[in-house]
Amino acid sequence: VTAGKVITCKAAVAWGPRQPLKIQMIDVAPPKENEVRIKIMYTAVCHTDGYTLSGEDPEGIFPVILGHEGGGIVESVGKGVVNVQPGDHVIPLYTPQCGECKFCKNPKTNLCSKIRATQGRGVMPDGTSRFTCNGQEIFHFMGCSTFSEYTVVADVSVAKINKKAPLDKVCLLGCGVSTGYGAAINTAKVDNNSSCAIWGLGGVGLAVALGCKAAGATKIIGIDINESKFEIAKKFGCTECINPKMYNKPIQDVLIEMTDGGLDYTFECIGNVQTMRAALEACHKGWGTSVIIGVAGAGQEISTRPFQLVTGRVWKGCAFGGWKSRDSVPKLVEEYLNGNLVLDDFITHSLHLDDVNEALQLMHTGESIRSVLQV
Ligand code: APR
Ligand code: ZN
Ligand code: ZN
Repeated sequence: VTAGKVITCKAAVAWGPRQPLKIQMIDVAPPKENEVRIKIMYTAVCHTDGYTLSGEDPEGIFPVILGHEGGGIVESVGKGVVNVQPGDHVIPLYTPQCGECKFCKNPKTNLCSKIRATQGRGVMPDGTSRFTCNGQEIFHFMGCSTFSEYTVVADVSVAKINKKAPLDKVCLLGCGVSTGYGAAINTAKVDNNSSCAIWGLGGVGLAVALGCKAAGATKIIGIDINESKFEIAKKFGCTECINPKMYNKPIQDVLIEMTDGGLDYTFECIGNVQTMRAALEACHKGWGTSVIIGVAGAGQEISTRPFQLVTGRVWKGCAFGGWKSRDSVPKLVEEYLNGNLVLDDFITHSLHLDDVNEALQLMHTGESIRSVLQV
């Protein structure tokens, strides 16, 4: 039995910006009050991991254990934990849900504030870390740190899911897929027979396409400069795909012509402030809604003419697809099990935690949609 004891296990440690992650042994302390120690079984690799590793994230701290799209099994729980117990299958949540803060009490948002300050500083809610490597403190990441055989998270940051769900698939619900799918369903509230356009056909954009299709959109235009994404995009529900580089005028003008005045809903899934502008301006006058999902670099700003908004276009954004995480992730898992939500087709590469640097490379070159690592 490992409960109450330090666990020595393998993890991928990021020692500094732009350095390859180092696979090595770390010590994981037992969970304290309202904390949960999880045996991570699978983790996917997402852009925020790469962004922090790039050193461009001004809030990035090192050394750190990255990873935030994971699935695992509860090994032990600290005092006061009531929502999970050892043996439960869980998904760690970088957007927690405490149920008590003013954000949790407001149905309009999913941005729980309970542990935001400490999570941003890479520590547990009591201000300390559970990870050490040869005695040196290692920081947590996004309240998850899934690039490790064992991790410790706050109890508000863990969703208990159906044990029948394969963790190598439903780990994707920890970030990208939920984010895109929810942006269409919760944030845009796409309606039946509507028209949509999606900038960026990576994992997030493809999940938006699934959401638009599920909501009954009849025109779903995928937009990407990498045409090798078009085939898979059609599989995920895009009815047509276009490459902005093939036109000698702004893509918003092309789309407005193609759609008799613009789209009902547009989504930016790249993190580029220029395409955010294009997505807003491609919306139909009077009612078009544009949702920003991609994360732009620190300090960047968006712009458009205010006239665009005065004439009825709406500019929105969301994090984690607007899902209240602990309530919603178990339901998304059920949707997967019922066959209503595709996950398998996002996984282009199945690797091992030892191959995490290769997985990051596959993400940066655009070769992968999602790599899932066995931990
Ligand atoms: N115009 C059109 N498409 C573009 C452009 C551009 N200017 N720049 C990049 N793309 C395309 C890429 O070719 C790629 O197919 O956007 C897609 C982005 O996909 P991924 O890199 O796989 O990213 P994804 O995991 O989907 O995440 C999208 O959301 O998580 C946030 O900000 C994060 O950048 C990330 C974004
Ligand atoms: Zn992510
Ligand atoms: Zn809360």
